[in-house]
Amino acid sequence: MEIKTFGIVGAGQMGNGIAQVAAHQGGLNIIMNDIADEFVERGYAAITKNLDRMVAKEKITADKKDEILGRITKSTNLEDMKDADFVVEAAIEKEDLKLEIFRRLDNICKPGVILASNTSSIPITRIANVTRRPELVIGMHFMNPVPVMKLVEIIKGLATSEETFNLTETLSRQFGKVPVACNDFPGFIANRVLLPMLNEAVYALYEGVGTVEAIDSIMTLGMNHPMGPLKLADLIGLDTCLAIMDVLHKGFGDSKYRPCPLLKKYVDAGYLGKKTGRGFYDYSNQ
Ligand code: CAA
Repeated sequence: MEIKTFGIVGAGQMGNGIAQVAAHQGGLNIIMNDIADEFVERGYAAITKNLDRMVAKEKITADKKDEILGRITKSTNLEDMKDADFVVEAAIEKEDLKLEIFRRLDNICKPGVILASNTSSIPITRIANVTRRPELVIGMHFMNPVPVMKLVEIIKGLATSEETFNLTETLSRQFGKVPVACNDFPGFIANRVLLPMLNEAVYALYEGVGTVEAIDSIMTLGMNHPMGPLKLADLIGLDTCLAIMDVLHKGFGDSKYRPCPLLKKYVDAGYLGKKTGRGFYDYSNQ
């Protein structure tokens, strides 16, 4: 099937980033969907701001910006996905919600349409099993910030077909990304390796081994990481970090993945990182 119209469910920081690269580098028509106007508008505003910055830096022309934005259709009705040739789900990291979205997409979307999930850790095989098209369900995991990061981790569920995999890989390249394949085990590869490190940094803070600034400086100056683990946790979202640690902990049944109590406390307090203006750092002035 030729892919002309690309559907995205979820216009948050991952969803709007995916919409941007699919419209810009991918050259596709986009249906960007979320549950309420305010979320879709916020996502659209984030894309506009990114493109404005690219115009200011003379990376694209103002006409190009208008052309990219002109390809994005805003939607608050999931039924609009009936027109999509490929759909990526990028809703929040809650299993019940994702399963419900996939059940509905399976009924709404045309036969043969691939349903991909940008999940950070929920098993693709389990998501596929709520649809009648498990061979067309795949993980397409973008990294944050999507317009900047090169990787797309592509996760094959148990029933994912080779054709589905090949098409998803081709599409990722069309978006200017580098696809890397892995199999469906808790946390896949990116988050199985990354999240225990972030969680350990929170433990170091919790146990008073160092301050936020000390922990992050040690990892940036000593390990050449582009940003410290606590700042990166704030960028990812502390609720997402906790959800991924819970998946690893439950999925492997190994106590080495237990989420730090301080991470849970921050999430309970609504300190979710950059997106709420407060996490390990204060973003209220940004
Ligand atoms: N959207 C679009 N562009 C952005 C951006 C954003 N949110 N943030 C930064 N950029 C662009 C800037 O415009 C700039 O572009 P130019 O080079 O064209 O000028 C470029 O990125 C570099 O930005 P800065 O100079 O402002 O800052 P920096 O050099 O410190 O880079 C960073 C910022 C790219 C975020 C860098 O700090 C970094 O790579 N951090 C690590 C990010 C990371 O690890 N991501 C993976 C998270 S894990 C994940 O996503 C998976 C999951 O499931 C949890």
